[in-house]
Order: sequence, then C-alpha cells, then structure tokens
Amino acid sequence: MTPALPSSDLSTRQEVLVVDFGAQYAQLIARRVRELQVYSRIVPHRISADEVVAAQPAGLILSGGPKSVHVDGAPTLDPAIYELGIPILGICYGAQLIASQLGGAVGRGMRGEYGRAEMTCAGVSDLLTDDMPTVHDVWMSHFDAITEVPEGFVATASTPDAPVAVLESTPRKIWGVQFHPEVVHSPHGMEVLSQFLHQLAGCDPEWKMSSVVDEQVERIKEQVGDARVICGLSGGVDSSVAAALVHRAIGAQLTCVYVDTGLMRKGESEQVVETFRRNMGIELIHVDAGQRFFERLEGILEPEAKRKAIGELFIRIFEEHTGGLSEAKFLVQGTLYPDLIESGGADGTAEVIKSHHNVGGLPEDMTLELVEPLRELFKDEVRALGTELGLPDEMVWRQPFPGPGLGVRIIGEVAPERVAVLQEADAIVREEIALAGLEREIWQAFAVLPDIRSVGVMGDERTYGHPIIIRAVTSDDAMTADWARLPYDLLERMSQRIINEVPGINRVAYDITSKPPGTIEWE
Ligand code: XMP
Repeated sequence: MTPALPSSDLSTRQEVLVVDFGAQYAQLIARRVRELQVYSRIVPHRISADEVVAAQPAGLILSGGPKSVHVDGAPTLDPAIYELGIPILGICYGAQLIASQLGGAVGRGMRGEYGRAEMTCAGVSDLLTDDMPTVHDVWMSHFDAITEVPEGFVATASTPDAPVAVLESTPRKIWGVQFHPEVVHSPHGMEVLSQFLHQLAGCDPEWKMSSVVDEQVERIKEQVGDARVICGLSGGVDSSVAAALVHRAIGAQLTCVYVDTGLMRKGESEQVVETFRRNMGIELIHVDAGQRFFERLEGILEPEAKRKAIGELFIRIFEEHTGGLSEAKFLVQGTLYPDLIESGGADGTAEVIKSHHNVGGLPEDMTLELVEPLRELFKDEVRALGTELGLPDEMVWRQPFPGPGLGVRIIGEVAPERVAVLQEADAIVREEIALAGLEREIWQAFAVLPDIRSVGVMGDERTYGHPIIIRAVTSDDAMTADWARLPYDLLERMSQRIINEVPGINRVAYDITSKPPGTIEWE
C-alpha cells in the first residue's frame, strides 16, 4: 500500500488515474474521486504500462464508455498494466474490459439494462461493505454483460440482467462494477468508490482545494521563472480566478489588461478594477474603450457583423496596450478542462480539440507561451478555488457572459443610450433573481432590448416605448437550455420595477423558448 504522504508536495502526492474510455463518464468519475479527497487526473486509454509506472499512481479507475468490447477497434488497456500490482477499479465498460482481457467472458446481444436496477450482493466482498444493504438499487447503462469472471476472480453481486454486476480479485488488486457508482442514482455508489480509494488503494483522504493553490503556485513559478506575464481579464469567473492564482504565484511579474468595451453589465467594470487593483494589488491596465466601440458599431445591425466588429476591435485594443510589455513572455488563459476535452475520434477517446479564448479571441500571431493553471478543473472547482483565493462571491458566482457583451443583447444598433437602458433593466433582473435566492439555480438571467415599440398608457399619458424581454434559462453546459419556470410573483416584481425605474420602457415580456430551437442569447 502507498504510504501517507503530504498532499501539497507535487512529487509525492497520491494520485488516482482515471483511464478514459469515453469522456463523459471519465469527467464525472474524476470529480467524484476529488470529492472523496483524493487527487485524480484523466488519462487517455492508450497510456502504456511504462507511463503508468512513471506516474506512480495509487490506483487506476477504468471508466465506462459507449462501445461494446466486441466491436472492431474497441479501445483496450495495455495488458501489462494489469500485472503492475496497482489497484484497479473497472466501471461499466471498464469492468467488461477486465473480464474480456483477463480471460472471462462478456455476453453479447443480451437484454441490456438502462436505468435503475435491483442488485443483490452474494458472498464475501471487499468492495461492497457490510454497511450496504444486501439488496439495493444501482444505476445501469449497458447492453453487453459479463457472463463469466476470469480465473481467480469472484462474482459478488448480480442484477436480473447482469449475472456479474461486481467482480473482484483482491489478491490481484483488481475489482470491477457493471453499474455506475459515480451517478447520484446509485445511492451507495460513493461508498463503493470510497471503499476502493480509501481502503483497497490505501489513499488518504487529504486532498483539498487549498492543495490546488499550493501545487499550481509551484508549477507557475517553475514555468515562468522571472519572466513578465500578461493576463487579459474579461470580468468572467475563469480569467479572474486564473489571474488571482498567477498573482499569488508571481506577484508583480503579472500585468492584467482589462479592455472595457462599454458593453459590460452595470457596475461590472468598477468591480473588476476594485477587486483586482485595490483589493488584490494586481497591476491592472484598465482600457476605457467604450467610445471606440460605439463609434465602430454605428450603423451595424446584423448580429454576425456586430460580433465580428467587436471581436476585431477588441484584439486591436488588446494589442495596443500589451505592445508596451514587449518583454512579456507568457499569456495567462482561464482554459478549463471541459474547454479542452470533447469525446472525439473513432475510438471515443478524449482529445484536445480546441483552445478556448476567454477574452473573445486573442491575436493569432501572438508569440506568447500560454499559462493555463485551470486546465485540469471543472467550473464548480474553479469557483471553489476562486473563493479559496479570496475573490468576492459576486465574481466567483458570476453567470456566463458573452464576449461581445450587451452588444448581442441589443437588437439593432448599439448606441450608448440604449446600452444604458439595457444595463438598468438587466441589473433589476439580476438583483431580483438574487433576492429570490435563485442565482445558483439559474444558468443565466438577463434582459434583452429589442428594436420595436408598442403603445401603452402611464398615468393619463399615452406612451410609445420599447419593451424589455426577460430571458432566464436553466442549463448544465449551455449546449441545451430550458426556459426557467420563474414564479409569477417574481416576474411581476421584475416587470413593475423595470417599467417604473427604467425610462422609455413600457412593457415587459418573458421569453419561453428552449434551446434548441432558440439560442440562449438573442443574437
Ligand atoms: P447561445 O446564445 O449560443 O450561447 O445559446 C451559449 C452560451 O455561450 C455564451 N456566448 C458566448 N460566450 N463569447 C463567449 O465567450 C461569445 O461570443 C458568446 N456568445 C454566446 C452565452 O452567454 C451562453 O452562455
């Protein structure tokens, strides 16, 4: 068993490798392992036994995946890895792979199980603890099923359609589960993972978010040495946390550049300046470029033309203001794990498919080396890290905001007066969402200013004003979204306040379109 070692020391930290056979599952498994306070990292299934030996992991988890072990080209594991004596847990496809690679059998064309299944434990198990009921629910998602365990293994649980729901060989330190312990629908799943990590693989539950700070600080120092580093701030969570982290590592070597497009939400620019310059003492170049953006946007109505114009001007201004930092060698980016990984390729392996620009597209010919300290983290982990670094809640829990800002929430021409109207209405929407305690449930809630007018009556006066459209959506990843079922009284309060407090607005509508067919933003 691996001895307990201090987790803040990179070279001796206990780590569990999650071998990826289909990215969607691997990500969730890695997160659960971290929730159990063990550091985890996702690696491609092509990892060789030598690479595993070099990484010295405390354990390996083979993820589920979309393929059948019987199809041509189905991903496999380097067989030598099974012989290393490093504890292995196979999940779903990972369990089937153990069975098929080590001489058991996986039946094909069986009935399959999708969703809840009743699992019955039988015999002595090291993976299933005595605290778990003999019969309990697990979450299944498989077509093939293990029918025969390899020599030296025992089957210790079954479901109606999976004769081998759990297989184990404690002497070989290899265990497998057909079900998905990582999903919440497997009520004892976390106990299974905990048993594997903490007991069978001997990992101490001592990894925590603050260790990320220590580790990353060391890595950043090592990467950049005494060179100058630039960070483009967008006001969003990712670039803010990345900047705070890099500043913790190298202090005054970091210069942040914040291009204020004039298309930010109400109070946002002030908050960026306040937080970074005053509270954190970070050197910040605040480029107040609103006027230039408004001039550039004059007469542009078409959404794509607007986006292009904003993006190009942004890059030009960013370049103008980093030109003086000619000795800078590095550029910080708040790239997250999901920005980098997508299940792709013929074998369903995670591959690097895009590099994401948080500040809305940076110059392609920039010869700066990237510093991406968040690239192993998920959004919720980045938020936790931001809090750990002392960033205020309003920044850490900020909703996603498009690079082109309010420019794509104003239908028609973007003029300063119209931005001011939208900022006021948008602030009311966000304030009321926060007061209702819905901030963290709603993916995005904002106001849109369309280019139409309607007749109304206020006091004894006929009005001919603009409407505000409220858009509030729930989503997990912005790929799809549903309109949020906001309570009527909340909608009423927003509507009343917007009409009373924002001059020129005489009507409020609520957008009840999901994505698809709509998009989250209006342009
Ligand atoms: P849509 O409107 O395509 O938006 O459903 C999906 C998510 O992406 C955000 N969004 C952007 N983010 N630059 C960004 O950084 C952009 O140009 C951009 N356009 C949309 C949008 O707010 C939503 O969260």
